[in-house]
Amino acid sequence: MFYYIFVLHKVTITMTSSVLLPLHSYLRWLVLAALIFSIYRAARGYFSRRSFSKSDDAIRHWTATIAHIQFVVGMLVYLQSQLVKYFWNDFAAARANLELLFFGLIHSVLMLLAIVVLSIGSATAKRKASDVEKFKTMLVWYIVAFLIIIIAIPWPFSPLANRPLLR
Ligand code: HEM
Repeated sequence: MFYYIFVLHKVTITMTSSVLLPLHSYLRWLVLAALIFSIYRAARGYFSRRSFSKSDDAIRHWTATIAHIQFVVGMLVYLQSQLVKYFWNDFAAARANLELLFFGLIHSVLMLLAIVVLSIGSATAKRKASDVEKFKTMLVWYIVAFLIIIIAIPWPFSPLANRPLLR
């Protein structure tokens, strides 16, 4: 019985490093591309007073969905991560280590905040009565979410924690 639990544990750890973490890393680019495109469409629609088309609505919706998928993958990575386990096992010592603090707390809390901002923006834009209000709401909330995500990504040049651009 213990042997099977041990094997299962090893398999999930291997899954994290070989599947989930690279997936989480690649999905970052999809999230960023979707957000940049959404922000561009919202700005274009708002400043040139266009009508909020079906494709604008689909972009609003799919950007939020891609971010939600990344959130779920992030949660799975969090539950399996050895770094995070180490952080919670020795919380006092780990707080002094910026990299452990980043992945144990800062990254996940900021990303959670970004997803909440994005979801509120998406839902509010959907319910606005006029097209100009839809574009404006989407523009403001998506820019805020984008900025939080940019700060919370462990770029190779980030002062908080560094990970490769592609894994
Ligand atoms: C839009 C949302 C998110 C983006 C763009 C994002 C991006 C990233 C990137 C680029 C990495 C580095 C991957 C690598 O090592 O190659 C990373 C690592 C990590 N992310 Fe996220 N993330 C997001 C949300 C989340 C959330 C919501 C959680 C947890 C609740 C999370 C937990 C983690 C953990 C624990 C690691 C480090 C795992 C390890 O090295 O052991 N992420 N994330």
